[in-house]
Amino acid sequence: MESLPELRWGIVATGMIASWFVTDLSLPREDARARHIIQAVGARSEAKAQSFVKSFVPELEQSGIACYGSYDAVYNDPNVDIVYIATPHAFHKQNCIDAINAGKHVLCEKPFTINAREAEEVVEAARQKGFFVMEGMWTRFFPIVEKLKQLLHKERVIGEINRMFADFSLDMPLRDLPSTSRLRDVALGAGSLLDIGIYSLTWGLLSLEPPGTSEKPEILAIQTLSDGVDISSAVLLQYHDAPGARQGVITSSVLHKTDDIFARVEGSKGTLFLSGSGASMPDRIKVSLKPLNARQDMGDKNTECVDIPKAEMSFAFQEKCGGKGFYYEADCIALDIAAGKMESSIMPLNETLRVMKMLDLIRKQGGAKFPQDLPYV
Ligand SMILES: NC(=O)c1ccc[n+]([C@@H]2O[C@H](COP(=O)([O-])OP(=O)(O)OC[C@H]3O[C@@H](n4cnc5c(N)ncnc54)[C@H](OP(=O)(O)O)[C@@H]3O)[C@@H](O)[C@H]2O)c1
Repeated sequence: MESLPELRWGIVATGMIASWFVTDLSLPREDARARHIIQAVGARSEAKAQSFVKSFVPELEQSGIACYGSYDAVYNDPNVDIVYIATPHAFHKQNCIDAINAGKHVLCEKPFTINAREAEEVVEAARQKGFFVMEGMWTRFFPIVEKLKQLLHKERVIGEINRMFADFSLDMPLRDLPSTSRLRDVALGAGSLLDIGIYSLTWGLLSLEPPGTSEKPEILAIQTLSDGVDISSAVLLQYHDAPGARQGVITSSVLHKTDDIFARVEGSKGTLFLSGSGASMPDRIKVSLKPLNARQDMGDKNTECVDIPKAEMSFAFQEKCGGKGFYYEADCIALDIAAGKMESSIMPLNETLRVMKMLDLIRKQGGAKFPQDLPYV
């Protein structure tokens, strides 16, 4: 543990995802690549910050952890190295800028901001001031993503990739939620696309584009709106300049829960399936080859399952420390910062900007608008 890089975190907001994050970072892990200290927690009231610590990291109550009744106090705490922002999307831009201006590195939950214009402001501030800033697209840091890239793009197990489908949908009873909920209030960024569709889009990009490339697929989108909130989004991605056509069918909804298999990628030699408890937490890849390829490549079996070895997979990490996987991104950030890097190579700022621009275009075609988009163009 002594030689691992150490990062002191200041937590901004005490909602659901912040509770997952601090719980994960506090778990004992044999394979940890960094040491994470929850140094401070800020909420809109000090009592809420204290209650959060009591509920989710009670072992820190006596450790001198700072509980603040404002977010500013976290930004200004000299013992905090990096601020983790877990407010509703509508506040991400200002929270990021405030933290950067106070001299802190930042990990901001996804979506990075409400729209690309806001994202550009944050990226500019980060680059000007020279702090590490990253969008918390934590799923990209799971070991299964490396395995996916290896299978699809390096080993080309399913041959030439033609098409993929990805869905992240949840059964969210929006009508039962208060109108002030971030899932209902458009002013807070409500809608399936930015909340969960961003994961479907991420799987589309990871599957259809070889690593290291950054393409500009044509986008066709349609959304179903209820009280201005997109309750369903459907997006087609078309890559025209590829040697073979590549299409992505990318969907999200708050009306139904996606089945265990949330994505499938089709290629000239077979199909790859991704599954997990949701598209943000993948834990299994299965490859099924077409009979001809299976006979040629694998003897007489017509189906081959590629299970990631337990030691590398969520299966194993769940058994080992009971966590969800936020430590993968946190460890990478600690290593990046220790190496003097200002952004992540796994979730670089230009990729965040590219994704935000795609989300803007999808909303422009689909109709979902946020007050922060004004003036509409
Ligand atoms: N990585 C993931 O898998 C994942 C999963 C879920 C959500 N997220 C992202 O994380 C962010 C927060 O989501 P969440 O599910 O944690 O939301 P949440 O449970 O509603 O918590 C949001 C927190 O933001 C603070 N807040 C400040 N102003 C607020 C306002 N006007 N209305 C509501 N809350 C306000 C509150 O904390 P205080 O009162 O303590 O200040 C609240 O607890 C969102 O951007 C979401 O997209 C990521």
